[in-house]
Amino acid sequence: MHDTFGRAIDYLRISVTDRCNERCLYCMPEGYKGWAQKADHLSAAQIVAVAAAASRLGFRKFRLTGGEPLIRADFLEIACGIGALPGLHSLGVSTNGLKLAPLARELARAGVRSANVSLDALDPARYRRITAGAVSAVLAGIRAAQAENIFVKLNCVLMRGVNEEDYRPLVRLSAELGAPLRFIELMPLSRTDVLTGENFLSVEELRRRLDAESPLEPLPDYRPGHGPARYWRDQATGAHLGFIGAITTADFCASCNKLRLTADGKIRPCLGRHGELDLKSALASGAPDALETLLAQAVAQKPENHEFAENYQPSRPMTAIGG
Ligand code: 5AD
Ligand code: SF4
Repeated sequence: MHDTFGRAIDYLRISVTDRCNERCLYCMPEGYKGWAQKADHLSAAQIVAVAAAASRLGFRKFRLTGGEPLIRADFLEIACGIGALPGLHSLGVSTNGLKLAPLARELARAGVRSANVSLDALDPARYRRITAGAVSAVLAGIRAAQAENIFVKLNCVLMRGVNEEDYRPLVRLSAELGAPLRFIELMPLSRTDVLTGENFLSVEELRRRLDAESPLEPLPDYRPGHGPARYWRDQATGAHLGFIGAITTADFCASCNKLRLTADGKIRPCLGRHGELDLKSALASGAPDALETLLAQAVAQKPENHEFAENYQPSRPMTAIGG
């Protein structure tokens, strides 16, 4: 399917839950209680039904996210259902990695081929301060996933004055693991203390800094997973470094290829705009083509770009939308 700006839309990101077993500084406001009721969450069968409708419209890439997707008890049922869709190109998961080690084998069996693992710091104390979790579990999870031939990418959110000392160690880890590392600009997706101008570090500033220490070579044609990152190669280590400049990259949205499904059954045409369409009544009615019609409407409603630069105020946090 193409949207009104000529972009091919073939990627659905699905939030399977808005809950999480971590508490990242930039994600959940302290004492957050705004969870959707569990009863409002789509069932595994409903999620697979939406993915199947998207697949009939030509969607080929699916990513399961959250919140933390791996805490959902019926996660494997969802993954297996989507993993079996005809014409599927890729099924990935975005995870904080805490539960990856025990689940890696079953994920691979279910058809999960890639995992984007959040890793904002390598230093255990700093990792804990940022996420409230244990970095050793995440590292074990990454290795377990790689042992199952799941393609791992590392995600690091840039926070000036918070995790700057971790960037170089993460580059070394990325080279050692053969896992691309993506640096992500802080986006106003929640209402937490860290989301201020002082903590914002642009991808361009970081790229210049890294390049001054150790030269980077541009990789214009490298696009693993067709994500939004632009890649460079660290010549000294061979690490593949992606930069996701959602805020500062001028034509960031030009290559957007996705819709998002929230855990409570709303389709979001854009992460950085409030509009959404509700799929619940279409799911309840069971009317033929009702889901396809709504998904096609969402594609047609995709805006040209996000409005982060226009003082966007999130109405719900990232966990409720699907990172
Ligand atoms: N800004 C930038 N990235 C964010 N993520 C979650 N919240 C934000 C935010 N406010 C990241 C997670 C994960 C990816 C899916 O999005 O760390 O790696
Ligand atoms: Fe959990 Fe991801 Fe939010 Fe961190 S960013 S609290 S891992 S959902």
